[in-house]
Order: sequence, then structure tokens, then C-alpha cells
Amino acid sequence: MRQLETALIGAGLIARMHLEAWLAAGACVRIHSLDGRAEELVQEFDGFGVKAVGSLDEALDGVDAVDICSPTDTHRDIALTAIARGVAVVCEKPLAADVAEAEEIVGAAEKAGVPVYPAHDIRFAPAFARLHELVAEGHLGAGTVARFTVAGYHPRPWTGHATAESGGILTDQMLHGVDIAYWLFGDVVRVHAHYQGEITAPAPQGTAAVGTVVLTHAGGALSQVVSRWTPTPQPPIRVTFHVSGTGGTIVHDSEWPQEIQVSGGPAGTFGYYGESPFTSEIREFAQALRGGPQPRLVAHDALAAVRITQAAARSAWTGRAVELPVKGAAA
Ligand SMILES: NC(=O)c1ccc[n+]([C@@H]2O[C@H](COP(=O)([O-])OP(=O)(O)OC[C@H]3O[C@@H](n4cnc5c(N)ncnc54)[C@H](O)[C@@H]3O)[C@@H](O)[C@H]2O)c1
Repeated sequence: MRQLETALIGAGLIARMHLEAWLAAGACVRIHSLDGRAEELVQEFDGFGVKAVGSLDEALDGVDAVDICSPTDTHRDIALTAIARGVAVVCEKPLAADVAEAEEIVGAAEKAGVPVYPAHDIRFAPAFARLHELVAEGHLGAGTVARFTVAGYHPRPWTGHATAESGGILTDQMLHGVDIAYWLFGDVVRVHAHYQGEITAPAPQGTAAVGTVVLTHAGGALSQVVSRWTPTPQPPIRVTFHVSGTGGTIVHDSEWPQEIQVSGGPAGTFGYYGESPFTSEIREFAQALRGGPQPRLVAHDALAAVRITQAAARSAWTGRAVELPVKGAAA
């Protein structure tokens, strides 16, 4: 197995999970952050081939990939710098703070022939991976209607910018459910969203908010995503889905012991909390970086998710549905 060298940018909540996953995938990791936490991670993972570096330049020098785990408004500059050096990009969600930045990253990567792998970890959560298999195997028949919910503690002060431009929860946490809906049912042509919560920028930790979006897919499916920021860390994150078609219903709640059901009956132990989705995700990206198959999501999936969630923010702030162009149609 070829030794990979990865530059991890950021040393916060999510970087720690990615670090463990890169080490499990057999990579050497150098970490760069602006807050001294890179050095703390090096101490914690002493002996595992982890080192801290003082600049982005040093981080990118000679590595196979950069993994961007810094705040969302830093993603564009770091991704473009890496792409200009031919370094493959793994990037936390959302790929960028707005559609223009996401398009810039994807355009530059295509031109340079550099892969961009968006770290939408929920596609790797066992219950969602199994849901995708069941839908692809045709268990639902036709005419699908889906509902996805996520509730969890508002994470960081910088994620709470609940404004028309940034969208707050609509462009941050809601991206998870939107990405699953897009993965299952494809292109979205109509977005209608609603938001309730603080409208401050930045929102303090503990901000409560709830947002919802209804997506009309080009193929005729209808999805609703509900996202909620809870004001306290307890209870921990809870996810549910309820997906129906003419052939049946598939349901899941991360609090259930039986974990996933198909039309009333258990369908195995595919719980949200199986192998860490970060471990599965980084393993799949590492395999692709070593010349293996293309991972289950690439740059265009990240761009689609940013387009849909930004449309949701516009819809919530104008009170009107937003139409998105069908792929291949004249602009
Ligand atoms: N997949 C998920 O479920 C999930 C959950 C939380 C966060 N995220 C995403 O992960 C990213 C990071 O979030 P977090 O909660 O870990 O943040 P955090 O605030 O805990 O940590 C951010 C880190 O980035 C560093 N940093 C900031 N600017 C930098 C720069 N220019 N160069 C280098 N380092 C820099 C900081 O020093 C800090 O170490 C965000 O894009 C967020 O949306 C994803």
C-alpha cells in the first residue's frame, strides 16, 4: 500500500475526526492551524507520524492531498492554492461559502486535472448508505416522497451567520439532508424554504434555529429536509428519515435499537452509529488517491449541494420558491 502524505488544515472539532481517519487509512499527516491546536493534536497522537507545520506553504509542499477542515469562509483560498500546485483536495462541507466560490474551485480543479473530494460524511453513515442501496435496488417503486431530519447543537460562533447571504443553518447543517436527497433522487428544479431563529451575525454558541426546505427533483420525487440547532449539547445529534414510494416505505431513527425498517419490518443493523462515517469516507478517498475507484462523491456533488442550499437561503429570505435550471437546459 503506497504511503500517502496529507496536509490537514485546521485542528478543531472536525479536523480531529479526520486526523484519526487518515491515520487509520495509513497516511502521514502534517497539520496547520492558526490557534495552537495543531501542536496539541501532535502531542496527543505522538508516535503516529503526525507533525505540525507553521504555514500553508509548508503544509502543501510535496503532499498527495490537502484536507481542508478550517472554517467555511477559508475553503476557497486554501483549495485554489492547493489546486494551483497540483495537490488533490479533500474539503469539509460546504465546499465554499457561496455558489460563485464553489464554481471557481470546481472550474480550477477541472482545468488543472486535480481531484476534489467533498467530505459529506453523512453519505458514509451506515443507515444512509443502506438507504441508498435499498432505493437503488428498487424497493420503493415509483413516486417517491421523502423526509429527512437532523437536530444537533449549534456548533461554532462562525457557523451561525443567519443572514440572507450566508443562510445560517440552511447552508450549514441542512446541507447534510440536502446532499442525501440529491444522492437518492438527483437534480433539483425547485426549492422552497422556511427559517425560524435568531438573525444575528455571528450567532453565539447555543443559538436555537430551525429551517426546512422542500425540494422538487427533476425526476418527480419530492423531498423535505428539516434541520434544527438545539440550544444545548444534550441530547446528542439525532437523525431520522421516512422515504415512501408506491412499493413501500423505509424509515430510520438514530434513537431506535432496530435501526432501519422497510415497510414495517427490520432490515438489518445499519445504524447511524456503526463504523464512524469519517473513517469510511477518508478510507474511500485514500483508495482513490492511491489510484483506486472514484469515490461515491466528487466535486460536482459539492457544487450541487451549495447551489441547492444557497437557493434555500434565498427562498427563506424572500418567502418565494426558487427555480433551478435543469441540467443541460439553456441558461
Ligand atoms: N461534517 C460535519 O458534520 C461537520 C461538523 C462540523 C463542522 N464541519 C465543517 O468543518 C469545517 C471546520 O469546522 P470546525 O467545527 O472543526 O471548526 P473549529 O472552529 O473547531 O476549528 C477551526 C480550525 O481551523 C483553523 N483555521 C482557521 N482559519 C485557518 C486558516 N486560514 N488556515 C489554517 N487554519 C485555520 C483554526 O485555527 C481551528 O484550528 C467547517 O467547514 C464546517 O462547516 C463539518
